[in-house]
Formats: sequence, structure tokens, C-alpha cells
Amino acid sequence: MKIRPLRMLVPRGLKRWLPQSLFARTLLIIVLPVAIMQGVVTWIFFDQHWQTVTSGLSDGLAGDVAWIAQTHEANPGPANLARLAERAEKTLSLSVKLVPGKTVPERRPSALFAPEDRALNAALERRLDAPFWVDNRSYNSWIGIRVLASDGVLKIYAPRERAFATSAPIFILWMAVATLLLTAIAILFIRNQVRAIERLAAAADAFGRGIEGPEPFKPYGAREVRQAAQAFLSMKARIQRHIEQRTVLLASVSHDLRTPLTRLKLEMALAEPSDRTEAIKRDLAEMEHMIDEYLEFARGEGGEAVEFTDVAGLLTLICDDARRAGATVELAVDAGLTGEVRPNALKRAVDNLVANAAGHADRVRVTGSRPSAGGLEIAVDDDGPGIPADKHEEAFKPFSRLDDSRNQNRKGVGLGLAIARDVARGHGGEVFLSRSTLGGLKAVIRLPG
Ligand SMILES: Nc1ncnc2c1ncn2[C@@H]1O[C@H](COP(=O)(O)OP(=O)(O)OP(=O)(O)O)[C@@H](O)[C@H]1O
Ligand SMILES: [Mg+2]
Repeated sequence: MKIRPLRMLVPRGLKRWLPQSLFARTLLIIVLPVAIMQGVVTWIFFDQHWQTVTSGLSDGLAGDVAWIAQTHEANPGPANLARLAERAEKTLSLSVKLVPGKTVPERRPSALFAPEDRALNAALERRLDAPFWVDNRSYNSWIGIRVLASDGVLKIYAPRERAFATSAPIFILWMAVATLLLTAIAILFIRNQVRAIERLAAAADAFGRGIEGPEPFKPYGAREVRQAAQAFLSMKARIQRHIEQRTVLLASVSHDLRTPLTRLKLEMALAEPSDRTEAIKRDLAEMEHMIDEYLEFARGEGGEAVEFTDVAGLLTLICDDARRAGATVELAVDAGLTGEVRPNALKRAVDNLVANAAGHADRVRVTGSRPSAGGLEIAVDDDGPGIPADKHEEAFKPFSRLDDSRNQNRKGVGLGLAIARDVARGHGGEVFLSRSTLGGLKAVIRLPG
């Protein structure tokens, strides 16, 4: 049989009211059935057992009272009454007194939530012909019953246990205490289980942002959570190995190429200057630029540590450099903008975006801010030709250049955006391209935290 997911069993309207956190949900799963069960048990106990016992007791007491009243009516007189009182005291635990010349007060309708009053009143009504009055409130352990007799009012006091089953409040109290105790124990245990999952989530999040915690993450908790944690750890190790391999390969290739390139440059510097040597020198410069980019790309996620950085200062530096290279750059940054980033990597990423913008447009605007949704946002706008939306993904691909044929002689490897994306993702963030209000391309680096 296929197990249907719970989501299908819970109506959509109800789902909005259900708690979102695992802790609250687990607690609900444990406590709710117990609370319902205790409610039902209490209800049944009240309805069946307690009511039956109380009405049985009330009936017995009412019978005794009726017997006393009738015996007194049959043989009134102080001597007979004294004997009756003595017998009642001894055999029925009832105390009997006669108050001559009085009458019983008007009976109040019994309160809705006093089933005990109702049971006793109903029983007395059934047994007694004379008017009566029950005082259930004045004494803690006694009930006073007054019955109208021909020569006055008979006051009969009965111990409370004779009329009511007194265990009900204690029963409810124990039910409540048991529920509270169970909830407390459940909270303790669930908190531990949830903490294991929270720790795993935090470790995965930190890894996504490239932050290595002070102490290595150790799987703990229930078996399934430990399995998930173990899977995460081996995935992390695989990714790290993969990155390392790539880095080492690219770095060694670039490094090996650099030595003959330097020799060639030396040769060319010593050669007779001519058009051909100039062209070769230009080609060599371009090759050197490419190798530098490869190296940067390879270094991308390498060892740099995340540190508390003055982002505003970093952006100012980048814009100053770009201006020195001849670009028109405006900078709008919240003063004192800081963040936990890898400063060199972030500088490389923003440098690339600014270089792209400066290479394609006349005006460049750099903005750094903390949006209300949280995180850190660095946007580079330009008024150049931009990139059509369907080419955005292609522009991010390493070694892809979109410039049409007339621009193909621009120097560039096609790694700029790929590096920017690498850096952003290494921080757990992303780079977004869109249309700028200036008319050209808007590239946004959005980082969490
Ligand atoms: N601001 C921009 N305006 C218009 N087109 C752009 C802009 N930025 C990038 N592009 C296009 O996207 C392509 C990829 O950019 P990317 O930065 O990855 O490589 P590149 O600039 O060609 O080379 P590199 O940055 O490695 O020197 C570029 O070739 C260019 O066609
Ligand atoms: Mg570029």
C-alpha cells in the first residue's frame, strides 16, 4: 500500500494554523493525543462513574433524612426526639436538632455547575413530602438539611462524604499534573532531538557560505539525523576534494606557462623594434592577462578566510582604481557598510563587474547597501548596450564572450562573470543580471548575513 503524505490528510485551511517548527510540531504530536485522551477519560469518569456514585450516595442520605423526618412526625415530643437523635447519631452519623417555630427558606434553583447539589435536591424531593432546604456551602465537611415538621424545623447535619464522592477534584488535579509532567518531559527530549537537526542545518549553511566553524561539526542525535549528518560530511569532503583538484590543476598549468612567457617577453624586449615585434608584444600581453585570469579563477575559492571587512572602503578603493583607468564611476554606499566576507575575493568579483561595465559603457554606478530583507547587496549599473535576458546564463559560462564580431578584438577571456559568480556562491550568495535604469546592464551581487 502506498503511504499518502500527511499533507494530503490535512485540510489546507488548517495548515495555516499549524506550527511551523519541528519542535512545536513534534510537541503537538505527542501532547495533543494525550490531552484528548485525558479529556475523554475525565468526561467519561464524570458522566458515568462519578455521577452514579454521587447520585447513589445522595439517594442513601435522602432516605435516611426521610426516615428521620417520618419517625419524628409519627411520635413528636422532646423525649422521643432525644431518642431519635441519639439513634441517628449512632447508626447513621447524622446529627438531628429541632428548632421550634421556624420555617424553611425558599429554595434557590441549584447552580448549573453544581451537579452534586442537583443530585441531592432531586433525591430529597423524591423521598420527602415536606418542604426542605439544603445548605451545602456553610461548612467544609458538613451539609445542613432543614426539613419542615409540624412543630418546627428539623435541622439535620450529615458528613459531606455521605452525600458526595469527593475524589473528583483530586482526580482532575492528578490528570492535570500528569499532563504537565508529560509535557515537560516531552519538551526536554524533543529539544535535544531538534537541536541535532538545527546543528546540522547550521553546519550546512556555514559550509555554503564558506565559513569553517571554530570546532568541526560532529554528527549526533537520533540515528536518522546522524546518517544525514554523515552524508553531509562526506558530501562536503567530496566537494572540497573536487575544488582542490581543480585549483591545483589550473594553478600548475598557469604557473608552468608563465616561465616560457617571461622568457619570450625578455627576448622581445631585446629584439629590434618593428611593427611585427609590437604585434607580438601585444599578443604576449594578452596571453599574460589571460594567464592571470586563469590563476584568479583557479584561486577563486582557495584558502582566503572570511573576515569582518569595511565594505564601504573596499568599494571606494575599487571605484578609485577604475577612475584611474579612465572610467566615469559614481559610488553610492551606506557609510560604514561592513560585512563578514573574503575581502580579496569580493574585490576581484566587483572589480570584474566594474571592468565589464567600464568596457561597455560611458557611465558606471556602483551601489552598496543592506536591503531591508537582510544580507549585503552590491550593484553595478551602466548605460551601455546591456545583455539580452536570454543571454544572461551564457554570459556566466567560463570562457564565453558575447561581444559581436566588431568587438571581438577586445581583450578578455570570458571569465569575469564566472569569477564573480564563483565568489558570490562561495559566500552563499548569488549574482543577478538585469536591465539597469541607466539603460545598460545591472549586475547585483547579493550575499547573505
Ligand atoms: N556591462 C556589460 N554590458 C554589456 N555586455 C556585457 C557586460 N558585461 C559583460 N558583458 C558580456 O558578457 C560577456 C562575458 O563577460 P565576462 O566578464 O565573463 O568576460 P569578458 O569581459 O569578455 O572577459 P574577462 O572579464 O575575463 O576579461 C562579455 O564578453 C560581454 O559580451
Ligand atoms: Mg569581464
